[in-house]
Amino acid sequence: MTPPDDLMSKLVSLGKRRGFVFPTAEIYGGLQGFWDWGPLGVELKNNIKRMWWQRFVQERMDVVGLDSAIVTNPEVWNRSGHLTGFKKDDLSSGACPDCGGKDLGTPRQFNLMLKTQVGPVQDSGSDAFLRPETAQNIFVNFETVRTTSRLKVPFGIAQIGKAFRNEITPGNFIFRTREFEQMELEFFVSPKEDQKWFEYWVEESMKWFTDLGIKSDSIRQYHQKKEELAHYAKATVDVEFNWPFSSQGGKGWGELMGIANRTDFDLKAHNLKYKDESGEFTPYVIEPSFGVERAALAFLINAYEEIEGGRTTTTESNKETEVVLRLHKSLAPIKVAVLPLSKKEPLAKLATEVFDSLKSKFMCAYDEVSSIGRRYRRQDEVGTPYCVTVDFESLEDKKATVRDRDTMKQERIPIAELNDYCRDKFNES
Ligand code: GAP
Repeated sequence: MTPPDDLMSKLVSLGKRRGFVFPTAEIYGGLQGFWDWGPLGVELKNNIKRMWWQRFVQERMDVVGLDSAIVTNPEVWNRSGHLTGFKKDDLSSGACPDCGGKDLGTPRQFNLMLKTQVGPVQDSGSDAFLRPETAQNIFVNFETVRTTSRLKVPFGIAQIGKAFRNEITPGNFIFRTREFEQMELEFFVSPKEDQKWFEYWVEESMKWFTDLGIKSDSIRQYHQKKEELAHYAKATVDVEFNWPFSSQGGKGWGELMGIANRTDFDLKAHNLKYKDESGEFTPYVIEPSFGVERAALAFLINAYEEIEGGRTTTTESNKETEVVLRLHKSLAPIKVAVLPLSKKEPLAKLATEVFDSLKSKFMCAYDEVSSIGRRYRRQDEVGTPYCVTVDFESLEDKKATVRDRDTMKQERIPIAELNDYCRDKFNES
């Protein structure tokens, strides 16, 4: 199914109308490059982060987690090269930030870091920075985490958290923002094995997206040319997504996330070494770095489907254009919607009992407003995989109708078995 031409404006509108994401402090005109995530958006982001953590930390013996401070000692950025170095993303809009022209000439250095002050006296000694990447605090904690977790190279430290960049050209909805979240893994390897691990993490990163439903022809690898590499990188592969807008010059393909071979640049910069049976050396770092919002945007674009004239089955008929968000079930903000056919008693009581029986295991919604058809459409539009309808027959046979978002198939399931039924359905995906 080809996405509509104006997909981005449709997603922006859906984001606001249904409470995924909207400009921050909109009643005061917003703040460019900053967004607030509503009830459904926060669930989507939490699910993305949960699935990432599960794959990259929980399911591995060689990776542990970290949650470090956002406000960072300036010396960290001095050593990392951020206070002096040039990052490729500065000009990733493909246009000169001053004149908008395409001829970039010699790249100017931009300080993308947001500065703050710590303590009661505001002078240069109180300067501190909001981190522009989560990676550096992983490096400075390398020794502490390694010794406390007793891990040996090769091993990794993962972190999910906010990052801030004073981007010159924030835009394309949530594609480039000034406050965003990263999911980063710094994987420490022997310098002799860097290429092997680099290739491994490129494959693992691609697989994470396709396992969560991104169509394999919507992503591809782009091997950065020498002149495009960040100051710390020996090689970088961007996993690119086919965006419905022009992200980096050419229309469509643009960075979704990146995997960098950062060599021993960072650990050397912080004077950190490692010793094992083979002797003392500075490990190389392979870094898969994901953006939560950019991943969320790709998942939304990938999932959005519009069906002109609506979908029809033997039990449902809808003439209006219907939107179905075919999110992977594990990413869907609401897993199960409980819908009483009538808001009056005794159905409301039974439907509330159904909600209560499911709520500890599944994120549920309860909707009793408007016709059942409209309520199905509302849930389809936000990607809810299952709707459970409690009707008058349910009072007699103690069964409810479960409707599947994708197939629209309906099944009568004993209320007492709904928990197991839903658990099995979610485990299938
Ligand atoms: N530690 C390496 C690093 O930060 P990066 O390519 O600058 O590398 C990694 O950022 C990922 O973070 C990007 O691929 C993107 O997904 C996300 N990202 C970076 N800047 C962003 C921004 N301004 N807005 C939203 N996401 C951003």
